[in-house]
Amino acid sequence: MTRSSTTRRRFLAALGAAGLGGLTGCTGIGALSNDSDVPTATPRSPPSGPADTAATVRPAPAQAASGLSPDTWIYNEGFPGPQLRVPEGDVLEVELANGLPRETTVHWHGVPVANPMDGVPGVTQQPAGPGESFTYRFRAEPAGTYFFHSHVGLQLDRGLLAPLIVEESDPHVEYDREYTVVLDDYLDGAPQPLYEGTDSGGRGPGMGGGGPGMGGMMGDRRPPYAALLANGRPPNDPQRLDVREGQRVRVRFINASSATYFRVRLGGHPMTVTHADGRPVDPVAVDSFRFGAGERYDVVVDATNPGTWELLATALNGRESPARALLSYDGGTSAPVSPSATGRELSYGDLVARTPIDGLDGSPDRTFDLTLSAGQSGWLIDGQAYPDADPLRIREGEHVRVTMRNRSPVVHPMHLHGHFFQVGNAVKDTVVVPGHMGTVTFDFLADNPGNWLFHCHNLYHLESGMARLIQYVE
Ligand code: C2O
Ligand code: CU
Repeated sequence: MTRSSTTRRRFLAALGAAGLGGLTGCTGIGALSNDSDVPTATPRSPPSGPADTAATVRPAPAQAASGLSPDTWIYNEGFPGPQLRVPEGDVLEVELANGLPRETTVHWHGVPVANPMDGVPGVTQQPAGPGESFTYRFRAEPAGTYFFHSHVGLQLDRGLLAPLIVEESDPHVEYDREYTVVLDDYLDGAPQPLYEGTDSGGRGPGMGGGGPGMGGMMGDRRPPYAALLANGRPPNDPQRLDVREGQRVRVRFINASSATYFRVRLGGHPMTVTHADGRPVDPVAVDSFRFGAGERYDVVVDATNPGTWELLATALNGRESPARALLSYDGGTSAPVSPSATGRELSYGDLVARTPIDGLDGSPDRTFDLTLSAGQSGWLIDGQAYPDADPLRIREGEHVRVTMRNRSPVVHPMHLHGHFFQVGNAVKDTVVVPGHMGTVTFDFLADNPGNWLFHCHNLYHLESGMARLIQYVE
């Protein structure tokens, strides 16, 4: 079908044509996206000198013995991949050794790395082919809860994800022990694009009944997930997070899903949110929080209520059983108690960053007013589907304001590479724009020259075009 092959071409173009066997005629990385006559700004260089911490990331298909689908691709034989931990300020060097039958990259979600280290194929690097490697190098700062994942096609939903923890030298809250909880939506087959081919009936993703751009039944299509997982474990085989009475536990939650908006609740205990997307906030006690793909929250929990308690992460936009873990005192085996359905839920307005971004006082130097909507064959920003979309051009030093207005009924977790932004009183790198004309404004300081992707972190929305390049020009 014509429409389908058009979409296919665009998808390949989104991979920087590398899917077609390389970038003929382009030798330098600067050539990858500098396709206009506007001179682009020179990116920062990665740190030089010896690395403080070195690691190797080996993506490969899952082995039969792992119990995972043979269509699952994983890092270092684990799912999720191994947690990379590094003290803040260290120079981290990570070799990507590609054991996949396809090309891949690693993106360090949330870390403001130098542009050539950002892992976006066709924008910041040529991907590593099968058997090839690529060395990433960056200073691990600021401290926080991050994750890393492939940025090629739909590989994130194949399993190529893992936590990255940059340890704080001086945390603003004390705690006795900590856990990381990676939440994911797990497919047991190879992911397929949702918005191309015949099954969309030639209608757009939001056109199930509401008319163009307004959305309808098809608006929140998700792949046929086999399960929602917490740290790679299905709900009927939950991990136990062991605590002792009197301890304070820090839990780092990562929404590493590709298409799931989670609501997280814990039985028997309030959760005190201490960090949003890794950045410290004034502690705020809640009973639940919601987060979109790409967002992270750290909480502390005071273990003052012995027993076995369920930690549940429910899909707000899906029907799978909630992802599940157990908070378990002293190895006890009492029947787990569920969280209550009610209570106080975190809202963005509750988040007050301990360290706001400097240089954003006063009015912005540049503003973008962007509409998020559904098109005929995918998801759009201001009516355009990436890569057939105009870059958003900015200059170094500018205070940039971005307003997003959501004309669809579906949430869009919008993520900016290379920068944190100020949204209300919070500092984040990913923010959910609610459906039905939800509007979010963020501000950032243009302090990291290069070409940066700004996109919806619903992988299927991204794949269908919901992205723009933010381009620094001279
Ligand atoms: Cu996790 Cu382009 O992002
Ligand atoms: Cu989206």
